[in-house]
Amino acid sequence: MASLVINGGRRLSGSIVAQGSKNSALPILAATYLVNGKSVIHNCPRLSDVESTLKILENLGCRIERRGNDLVVDSTSAFGYEIPENLMREMRSSVIFLGAILGKTKKAVISTPGGCEIGLRPIDLHLFAMRKLGVEINEEHGRLECSIPKKLKGAKITLTFPSVGATENAILAASVAEGTTTIINAAREPEISDLCDFLNKCGAKISGAGESIIIIEGVKKLEATEHAVICDRIVASTYLFAGAVTGGDISVKNTVPAHLGAVLPVLEEAGCEISIRCSEIRLKAPTKLHRIDKLITQPYPGFPTDAQAPIMTLATIAEGTSVIVENIFESRFKHVPELLRMGAKIRTEGRVAVIDGVERLYGASVVSPDLRGGSALVLAGLCANGVTEVSEIKHIDRGYENFETNLCMINADIVRTEKDYGNRKEK
Ligand code: UD1
Repeated sequence: MASLVINGGRRLSGSIVAQGSKNSALPILAATYLVNGKSVIHNCPRLSDVESTLKILENLGCRIERRGNDLVVDSTSAFGYEIPENLMREMRSSVIFLGAILGKTKKAVISTPGGCEIGLRPIDLHLFAMRKLGVEINEEHGRLECSIPKKLKGAKITLTFPSVGATENAILAASVAEGTTTIINAAREPEISDLCDFLNKCGAKISGAGESIIIIEGVKKLEATEHAVICDRIVASTYLFAGAVTGGDISVKNTVPAHLGAVLPVLEEAGCEISIRCSEIRLKAPTKLHRIDKLITQPYPGFPTDAQAPIMTLATIAEGTSVIVENIFESRFKHVPELLRMGAKIRTEGRVAVIDGVERLYGASVVSPDLRGGSALVLAGLCANGVTEVSEIKHIDRGYENFETNLCMINADIVRTEKDYGNRKEK
């Protein structure tokens, strides 16, 4: 089993180029199944979640080619409609294929993705949206058989919560439905806008992406195109936090600073100096970090739940007491027991964590509980005294491309004990 061994206490300095967004790449790759022909997707990070998505596309009949960080997906002769359970289990977000498959083949068979490390993660809103569009769903023993008795038909879909995945599924299916669909209380994440940009380039008629009401006029056909995935705002934030916790001076290049609109003020509140020049964000850390008064995770444009774990590491060594409220997922504090092993002082009560800053963390052997919890532990290792070993890093490889290599380039000392990204060879 691979782990990262971190020799802590080194000040990070230099610049890193942020990778393409995982959460954009996954739905856009699912969308390549819906469109006809050969899509070329640039800036696709090399991650195990992307690899799992490609396996699903291949299983559905697509031909895939990887050229560096560009992926070519040819869906011309792909007509599969079933995702085997083992592939569904590899990645919970495989449920975003539902809308794409239904839009293309008018039937789909998938298994329920089930809970995961960070919570129950039901898919009721996804199914609600599909039913509104005319999909009939039979659910038995964790297997979902979906068919369209008449036609995919545009509808008004009011979501009780702005679920990212449910919004994406609704957009995918509605793009090729007959008539107009209105999604009310849609998720506003930048990744939704990126998916809509791709689909609109393919001929879809979607307006309002990035806002709470999205209107989709269904079209008969979508034709493949070329598209570059946006920068990963969570990865960019993580690197900035790494600079902050090590007293560093770092720049993250190739970002969309506006997408970090809720993260940058928190870093400033912690005493960091932030400057922005075009797509580059520079952070200079203070000698001692200040506490974070009260941080609440919220749907975009609020503070992202995906950045909650890594910013908690910052709070563990800040002066004073910080409060973090996790509002999106019910079990997203699994990194807390591991941070406690490193000397952090954190109390949790339900969705609230109260963090009393300590002078320093100490190196320890810790286990990565999930993707972002894993990155939080790496950050803890970077600022701790001594050596930290983070195991179960398969979670980190789901979302961070060349994580330790990038950090080492800006003066971190991290060694991976075994390397296997499970990535495909280039052709
Ligand atoms: C996406 C992101 C994930 C991020 C999350 C919230 C991808 C691949 N993943 O996940 O990194 O943490 O958005 O920003 O883009 N819910 C329901 N019923 C549903 C769907 C969701 O109750 O049918 C609940 C979930 O359990 C959760 C909340 O809604 O508590 C948010 O989930 P959602 O926005 O759907 O997140 P994902 O799309 O799964």
